[in-house]
This record gives sequence, structure tokens and C-alpha cells, in this order.
Amino acid sequence: MALVNAKEMLTKAKEGHYAVGQFNINNLEWTKAILLTAQELNSPVILGVSEGAGKYMCGYKTVVGMVNGMLEELNITVPVALHLDHGSYEGAKACIAAGFSSIMFDGSHYPIEENVEKTKELVSICEEKGLSIEAEVGSIGGEEDGVIGAGECADPQECKMIADLGVTMLAAGIGNIHGKYPENWAGLSFETLDAVQQLTGKMPLVLHGGTGIPADMIKKAISLGVSKINVNTECQLAFAAATREYIEAGKDQQGKGFDPRKLLAPGFEAIKATVKEKMELFGSVGKA
Ligand code: 13P
Repeated sequence: MALVNAKEMLTKAKEGHYAVGQFNINNLEWTKAILLTAQELNSPVILGVSEGAGKYMCGYKTVVGMVNGMLEELNITVPVALHLDHGSYEGAKACIAAGFSSIMFDGSHYPIEENVEKTKELVSICEEKGLSIEAEVGSIGGEEDGVIGAGECADPQECKMIADLGVTMLAAGIGNIHGKYPENWAGLSFETLDAVQQLTGKMPLVLHGGTGIPADMIKKAISLGVSKINVNTECQLAFAAATREYIEAGKDQQGKGFDPRKLLAPGFEAIKATVKEKMELFGSVGKA
């Protein structure tokens, strides 16, 4: 099945009280692991690409070519969206031109008027080309690809203002942070989330920083309107730990253990296991 935008899968998720996972990709192994897991579990999925990861993978056209090739060669039939994560205005336009099916424009660091202006323009381009678009209000804490946020809580009125522009999904800061959560993390602000949902109604809400959020908080966030959850760091940690174990056991020095297809296999399996665990927690299994 060809790439789809994220509108239908997220509308269904919001109505059905579950969330679709966005898993960020970094290379072929990552992409293959996520697509195969989604297919095995009959779950819709969103592949996230940050601007840094896009550059690393030799540009957006390379990413589109790789993903489209895999959808065909691996016989993937579940709905898959290819989504720019935390895009700049220019990055969003480049991904639209390259063949992504969904973009995020992160204008959260602009004054709200400028965020509205730029989001509005991109909404109209996406509408015309059939892409879905995510906007952000209230920056997400932590550091991701050089974008640093303090983890503020979004203003629900500003969320409504952006939601009314016709975006497909809205990321609202609710105290969430990219990467590992610090010991003294105050937790998610369900009060903010509730207020945002009350004002934005059916709009699918997005929870960034999915790594390390306890299961009960994830479930509560879904019950308050979160329909898309982003996970990146947790797959990286799982991949690194499995690769470390392989090397530390000296397996790369046994037989042809140095062959990258063997060397990267434990990390690949670890990503699959992480994605499976998240899809089960988010409730998207069997929802393709
Ligand atoms: P984590 O790396 O904390 O899982 O966050 C991912 C994310 O929000 C991508 O936008």
C-alpha cells in the first residue's frame, strides 16, 4: 500500500480512544524494524523524520525512495504515514516537494502571530496536496536535533487559535520532555491537557517525548484526547544496549560475526520489541 496521510488513522484513533505511535527513523534497519512490526501487529504507524535524521540519510528524497521501496518489497498493507518531525518552514516545504505524506511545522518558538501566519500558509499547501499537518504550541522540553525547549505548558486559547486554522493534529506542551526524564520531573500536566481538549474538541492531540512516560500516564493522556504519541530515544537506547551486548560478548570476533547483517541484527530485534511494546500500550494493535 502506498503512503497515506495521517488524517484518517488519527480520526479513528481519537474516536476509538487509542493512539497511533510515531517512531522516528535513522536508517534502513530502523525503518524495516518499524514497518515489519506494524505489519505483524496489524497496526497503523507513522514514521517520523527529524531534519537532522533527514540530512543523515542523505536528504528527504532518499528517505522517500527508501520508504516507498520497502512498502512495496515488504508487502506492507497497513496504513503508513511518512512525517517530518519538528520541521522548520523551509524543511516543511522541502518534504512536501520530496513526497512525504505528512509534515509537522514547529512554529512554537515564534511569537504566536507568526506561528499562526506560517502555519496557515502551510495548511493551505497541505490541503491542496493531500498531506496532513501537525502544528505545535508551547515548546516541548529537552533537546532534539539542536531544538531546545524548556517544557512549558501550552496556553489552551492559543491551542484553539492554531487548531482552528485547519491543522490535522496538534502538539501541545504539557510538561513533556524529549529524551530521558530527569529524576525530579513533575509529570504531565493533565489539567492543561484537559483544558486543551475542551477547547479543541475532536482535534487529535499529539504527545511528544514518549520515551520513559509511565504506562498509567500514557493511558490517562489517551483518555484525555491524545491520539498520536512520539517515540524516538527509547528505540535508540534499545538498539545501543543490544549492540553493546553483542560486542561485549565478543560475537563480532566469532566466525563472520563482523558482517553488518549479523552485527546489526540484535539492535534491529530490540527496536522491533520496543515498537511492539509501545503499540500494545497505545492500543493500536489490530486497528489497521
Ligand atoms: P523521545 O525521544 O523522548 O521519545 O521523543 C520523541 C519525540 O517527541 C519526537 O518528536
